[in-house]
Amino acid sequence: MIKVKNLAFSYTKHPFLENINFEVDRGEIFGFLGPSGAGKSTLQKILTGLITAYSGMAVIDNVESKEHKDTFYENIGVDFEFPSLYEKLTARQNLKFFGSLYSKKLRASEDLLERVGLSQDADKRVSEYSKGMKSRLNFIKALLHDPDILFLDEPTSGLDPSNSRDMKDIILEEKAKGKTIILTTHNMQDAAELCDRVAFIVGGKIKALDTPHNLIMSKGASKIVYTYYDRQEISKECFLNNTSEDLELHALLKANKIRSIHSSEPTLNDIFIEVTGRVLQ
Ligand SMILES: Nc1ncnc2c1ncn2[C@@H]1O[C@H](COP(=O)(O)OP(=O)(O)OP(=O)(O)O)[C@@H](O)[C@H]1O
Ligand SMILES: [Mg+2]
Repeated sequence: MIKVKNLAFSYTKHPFLENINFEVDRGEIFGFLGPSGAGKSTLQKILTGLITAYSGMAVIDNVESKEHKDTFYENIGVDFEFPSLYEKLTARQNLKFFGSLYSKKLRASEDLLERVGLSQDADKRVSEYSKGMKSRLNFIKALLHDPDILFLDEPTSGLDPSNSRDMKDIILEEKAKGKTIILTTHNMQDAAELCDRVAFIVGGKIKALDTPHNLIMSKGASKIVYTYYDRQEISKECFLNNTSEDLELHALLKANKIRSIHSSEPTLNDIFIEVTGRVLQ
């Protein structure tokens, strides 16, 4: 559905986004993960046709992004990083206005408002909305015309845990309907839960790209932590792929002295730090 090859772009004379290559299949959730300023939103702006001065290839549903026609937007939905709503209009009026820009049959605004808990406030002006309410409205605005491809830039940022859960459930429902989703986030848990594959982006470059599971398994070594009693409770750890060399563990096992063994895998966050040398959270 999306094909990016040798993509490069910079706002200045210095190279920034360089040698970006990836493909996203239909029905996949693909994550851009990276620290602030990494180029995630810039990449999303290229894919959604807002930046055209790039070199290389950025093809979305068989259309080269910089050569798109107006119909391009009939089939993509964008939830921008910063809400783009008319403050003087109510939520309902905003949806009506943005809906009028499409020639497709729209989804029912009522259902969408209900789904993100905004039904009660649908006739309030957006200027009276909280940050999280604006985020939720901006999100359903992207779903209004039922696009096949969704670009979501930090959709859960600024949301409380319950609203964030609702939004993640809606994202998974869209995937279940076969939609292709590009999700930009700083949040490792969200990425690990939602994304089929993720790209780690730092300083305008892709540093790793794979499924969260493969990234964790290929880069990080699982550990086990075991405890035993010797006048006091003692806790030791060793790498799971190295247990045959831990002679103390062998002796303890033989003497039935082990009190507990736990295994722990690295998290996607640990892997991000290992691969990029940067901390995200
Ligand atoms: N319109 C612009 N003109 C010039 N430079 C820009 C512009 N927009 C972004 N930049 C620069 O490009 C770099 C990447 O910005 P971008 O918004 O893509 O980062 P990001 O990964 O989305 O960060 P965040 O997580 O903070 O949203 C930054 O150094 C930023 O200052
Ligand atoms: Mg951004």
